[in-house]
Order: sequence, then C-alpha cells, then structure tokens
Amino acid sequence: MKKYCIILTIILTLNGCQKNSNNFTDSAIAINKKVDSLLKIMTLDEKIGQMNQYNGFWDVTGPTPKNGDAKLKFNNLKKGLVGSMLNVRGVKEITALQKIAVEETRLGIPLIIGNDVIHGYKTLSPIPLAEAASWDLKEIENSARIAAREASAAGTNWTFAPMVDISRDARWGRVMEGAGEDPFLGSLIAAARVRGFQGKDLSKHNTIAATAKHFAGYGFSESGRDYNTVDISKNTLYNVVFPPFMATVDAGVRTFMNGFNELDGVPVTGSSFLQRDILKGDWKFDGFVISDWGSIKEMIPHGYARDGEHATELAIKAGSDMDMESHLYIKKIKGLIESKKLDIKLIDDAVSRILRVKFELGLFEDPYRYLDAEREKEVLYHPDNQKGVLEMAKKSIVLLKNDNQLLPLKKKNQTIALIGALANDNNSPLGNWRTNSDNNTAITVLEGMKAYPNNTLIYSKGADVNLNAGGIVKFHEKVEINENDKSGFNAAKNAARNADVVIMVLGEDGFQSGEGRSRTDIGLPGVQQELLEEVYKVNKNIVLVLMNGRPLNINWADNNIPSIVEAWQLGSQTGNAVAQVLYGDYNPSGKLPMSFPRSVGQIPIYYNYKNTGRPGPANAVFWSHYNDEVNTPLYPFGYGLSYTSFKYSDLKIDNKTLSNNNSINVSVNLENSGEFKGKEVVQLYIRDKFASVTRPVRELKGFEMVELSPGESKVVSFEISESLLKFYSANEVWESESGFFDIFIGTDSNASFQETFELTK
Ligand code: NOJ
Repeated sequence: MKKYCIILTIILTLNGCQKNSNNFTDSAIAINKKVDSLLKIMTLDEKIGQMNQYNGFWDVTGPTPKNGDAKLKFNNLKKGLVGSMLNVRGVKEITALQKIAVEETRLGIPLIIGNDVIHGYKTLSPIPLAEAASWDLKEIENSARIAAREASAAGTNWTFAPMVDISRDARWGRVMEGAGEDPFLGSLIAAARVRGFQGKDLSKHNTIAATAKHFAGYGFSESGRDYNTVDISKNTLYNVVFPPFMATVDAGVRTFMNGFNELDGVPVTGSSFLQRDILKGDWKFDGFVISDWGSIKEMIPHGYARDGEHATELAIKAGSDMDMESHLYIKKIKGLIESKKLDIKLIDDAVSRILRVKFELGLFEDPYRYLDAEREKEVLYHPDNQKGVLEMAKKSIVLLKNDNQLLPLKKKNQTIALIGALANDNNSPLGNWRTNSDNNTAITVLEGMKAYPNNTLIYSKGADVNLNAGGIVKFHEKVEINENDKSGFNAAKNAARNADVVIMVLGEDGFQSGEGRSRTDIGLPGVQQELLEEVYKVNKNIVLVLMNGRPLNINWADNNIPSIVEAWQLGSQTGNAVAQVLYGDYNPSGKLPMSFPRSVGQIPIYYNYKNTGRPGPANAVFWSHYNDEVNTPLYPFGYGLSYTSFKYSDLKIDNKTLSNNNSINVSVNLENSGEFKGKEVVQLYIRDKFASVTRPVRELKGFEMVELSPGESKVVSFEISESLLKFYSANEVWESESGFFDIFIGTDSNASFQETFELTK
C-alpha cells in the first residue's frame, strides 16, 4: 500500500491517496485529469496490460501456478500486464490478486474484477426473463441491488449484466437472460437493472459497474441457434434492437460488451459502425467496451480477419477496448503500433476509458474497498436478501389458466398429490448463469408446500427430466439427454388417483436454457408430456406448474389441464414462492414478456409484427397465414391472469388532436370484479397507421400496475405526447410523423378497447 501511495501521489500530483480522501471521486472532470496524468507516465506495455483481461488462474489454496497458461498469466500480472480478471471470487482470492497488482507492479494500478452476476451472486433471484414477467420495475431494481450488495461484498467490482438483447425466438437458450421480446418493456427493465447494480454512487463499496450486452443483434441469431449468423434490417436494428441499449446509456451504464454474432456481414466485435459511430459517437458513451469471450479471435473463423494480428487491428480500430480471453491484445498490439498499423491515440483512448471506470469505482482511492472478509461473511445469503428474492419470485409467476377456480388451493382437509422430479429438485430452480452461487440451494416446491400442514401431501417423482436432473450439472456440460424411464408412472398415478388436487411440476432442467442451449423442440423434455397425459387419465383436477427458462410449447396442456402456472426458474426461494401463490397468499400478477407459440413453426413470433400487404383473413389461400395452424400465439405478450377478475370500461380521450405543443390524456376505468384483492398491469398500445416506413400493428407505449380490493375501481390514465411516437424513420432520424394513430388499452397485447387520434405537426 505504501509504494502504491507514493507512486500515485507523485504521478498524479494529488494530495494523497489515503482512505476516504475525496480527491479521486470529485467529478468527471477531475477524474479525466487524473486519467490523463496517469496515462502520461505509462509505458506502452502497461497500457496494453490495462486492455488485457484474464479468466481466473489463481488458486489461493494451492501453490502459485507453475505451468503453461496459468504461469504466463501469473507472470504477466506481476509485470503489470493485466488490467482485469474474471471468474475469480471471494475476498480471500481477490485480495491476493489485488495485492500483486497494487503492491508489486511498477504503477500499482488496481485490477477491476468482473463476474457474470446475472440474477444474483449467492442468493439467487429468478432468471431475468422471469423477473421481466413481473413488470415491476422497482422490484427488478431491488433484485439487482441485492445482487450488487452480495457480489461487491465478495470482491466483485463489475457485472457482465444486464443482457438487454431483444429476442423473438424461444429456441434460443439465452432468452432466459433477457427481458423478452419488447423494446419498450425491455428498455425500462434494462435501465432499472443498471440503476440497481450501479446505485447512485459507483464508488460505494456496495455498488458495482454494469454491462449492457451484447452489442448488438445477438438475440436475432438465425433459427435460434446460438452463435449463428444475424441478418436483420436497419429498421429492426434501430427500432427494436437499439432502444434497450440506449436506455442503459441514459441510465449511466459504465461498460458495454460486444458479441459473437455478425451484423450486416461484419462481426460486431469488429464493427466500428456499432462501437465508434453509434455507441461512442451518437450516444456519447464514455465508458469502455469489453469483447465477449474470445470474440476477437473468433473474427478469424468468421472469415473477417486473416490472423490474430489482423483481428487485433480490426477490433481496436472498431472500438473494442478490452480483450476478454482472446489473449491477442497482449501479444499483438505492440507490433501493430511499431509497424504503424495502429495509432497510439486509439490505445490511449481505450486505456483512458478503462482507467476512468476504475477511478469511478473508487479503486484508486482504496483498492481494497471491496475486500472486507467480515462484510463478506455478513452479507452473503443474508436473510434480508432471501426476503427480497422471495418477493421478486412471487411477482414473477404468471397464471396462464385457471378454469373451475382450481386455484387457489384450499388450506385444509385436502389430499394433494405433488408429482414431477422438478418438484423435489433444489438445483434446477436456480436456473442457468449462476456460476458464483452454490449448487442445490433452492427451496424445493415440495419443501414450500410442506409449510401448509393442514392438507395431506403425497409426493411422487413420476419421471426425471433428464439424466442429470437433480444432480450437479456443470455450466459447461451438455444436458440435452432427456430421460425415457417410465417406471415411476404407476406410482405417480396411484398418488394422483385419490387426490383432491394434483400438482404437476414439469419443465426443463436448470441447464436446458442459457448460453449454448438452443433447442428445436420446445415441448416438455423427456417423457414428461406422457406422464402428464397418463396422470390426467386418473385425475383431471391437475394444476400444471411449469419450470422453464423459455416459452414452451404446451398446446395439449392448454386444451386439457384446468390450471397452468408459469413458474420459470425462480432462484433460491422457488418453493416458498410457488407454494404461496398456489395457496393464494400471493395473488399472481405476472404478465408474459414473451409470446408462447402454438408450434415451433410459428417462430419467430411476437406481438409487434408488421401487417404485411395480405394480413387477411381473406379467401382460403392467398393471404399471410399457415395452412396447418392459426397465426396467433397460444398466449400473447402481456398475458397473465389473476385469482380475481378485472373489468375495463369507459375509455376516454380528452383530445383527438395532438401537436408538438400539447399532450393527450387517455383513461380507462378498471374495476376489480372478482373476489380477491389483486394487481393488474393496465397496458397501453399504439398503432401508427401510416408512415414513411412500415410500422408494427401495435407497440407497447405505457403500463401501470394497479392493486384493487374486490369491488374497488380506479381510473387509470396515460399521457401521450409527440415524443412517445418517435421512431427511426425513412429519413434515418428519430422522429414522429403526422397522421392517425390507434390506441388500445387492456389486459394484454390483444387489448381491444380502442380510440383514435391525429398527430398534426
Ligand atoms: C460469454 C457470454 O456470451 C457473455 O455474456 C459472458 O459475460 C462471458 N461469456 C463471460 O462469462
């Protein structure tokens, strides 16, 4: 620490670097000055080092790495040639690394430690897609806050989240990491997550820098196959893909990650259109861009870079500031500078951006700020965090069907058969992307149901989901090995036969969605569909609880099963959340953030589609439709029921003409016409009827969550101003265009209450 203080004091001509000094956190201008001073005394090697990120190699419980890659990385760390590390965790391990960076290198520049904190660190929230189903921005922000508190207490400074890729393809495994199909909802959620991670002051020990990823277009991988080609129009890029990224910039996100995909023939890692023109140019983003894992070197198999040197040159020119695990910057930049293929100004710009974020995090002020073993012990798995993720989990559940009011369950004198391997699984409900957490730590549905002791509960597994279900599947293991053993069917049927209600928990293994987990068949994996149909033969009073990381194909269930609950993968508190919802202690309020298709053949399917020239329905054949399936999804975007019912009436618009100078108020009366207190998300959609480029049939433009007691009503109103109608037009600018607009208000994206107004400019 002493050497570090002296060097920085001299170098930065600052007043000191003792703890609690405000010198390093004043303002952006002050930070820029400090960055400039530091840059001046850095050698080229040290600059390159800041742009180099390594995956963890440090085994704090064993001897210093002696061989190969690990040894090289370790030596580079000691020489000040490493700016960041990922996948190192915990105060003990990170302190050991930070000590080397700070006390053994020439300038003592601290490391920035990044990790994938996607839906929690130790205590896990629902997977992001599930959280999006809550439409509850405060709760989502709080969930990210909890994640930041735990991650920062364990030494992490930076999360590679939120993933804000819009996707319309349930085959793509990474839909579990995002907020679904809609840019409006996706933007609000993206901003909420950034606020949650970063807080108001990034230099506080309990906040972490966020990353908007993957810039851009990754969610449109062709046919839902991960890492596949992306080929989308400029219209889609601007109007659908960009908005959530723009929202994160507005929310002050400090880093961006590019991605594995190409866009318009250029791998995004090498795209200066995306990174320099749009992000750092138009959007004035002053944080830094990290590559995705190995994505710089992957420009070679893409057929865009000749070799490693060329890939480095392309990536740097395009504005990729930090190299995650291609190991190319550290090897190639120097030569490229010496041969004048790269201008040192580009390196200085990248390094400045990285140093700026390190200053903002307070790492120069105190590199050990995030490294307090006592705090780590106290914060991880703290009961308050468990409470927080339980709230988030309950709000994420979506009631898809509830015929005959089978739900909520009666609390006594009932015999309940609980069936399905997932009901007794404490690993799958944690979902994918939780490399920091501990396996087998979820409350199971079986445990959650036991908290209601006045019913008789009989559990029967029925069938496994796949061969790994219930075991410890590792992040990198393949899990698409679905089980076909039906020997448990009879026991399950016996349990169901005399039960008053059967709860069947079916769905995907926790690792069947996520990165590299694309599927062509999105039905219930293994023999679960058969199990469902067999049990149905002996008892029709079934509540199907789905546990999954993507929309599934559940036509048969929709036709036959009276109650269906979408419970996703809800994290640590899964069982408690599910049980409380099934028993009506929480009235479900979630709404789908992604359409559920009737068949894989309908994918991509999304509510904000274009009308086409033949929207139909016309004569039998010549209109835009399928011959063997209807066009509509099974459950549309925005859909979700409650144990109560809501009545919409009295749609009013206070003015039928909108100009640049006024706004229009549109309101509707919402009444709780059922028997339970409940929450409804009132949704506003707008259709721009005619424009210089074709516009979607409707777009979400507002929503409000309202809680009402039985018999209570409320007038819900929305303000519509000209700016809400802007889109990326044929003029290639964000603007609105005069003309007529339809308004729809209602309970989901099929909302049919309609009004019309005209925009005159
Ligand atoms: C690859 C993923 O695409 C990215 O989202 C993630 O942050 C990195 N690996 C690091 O784990």
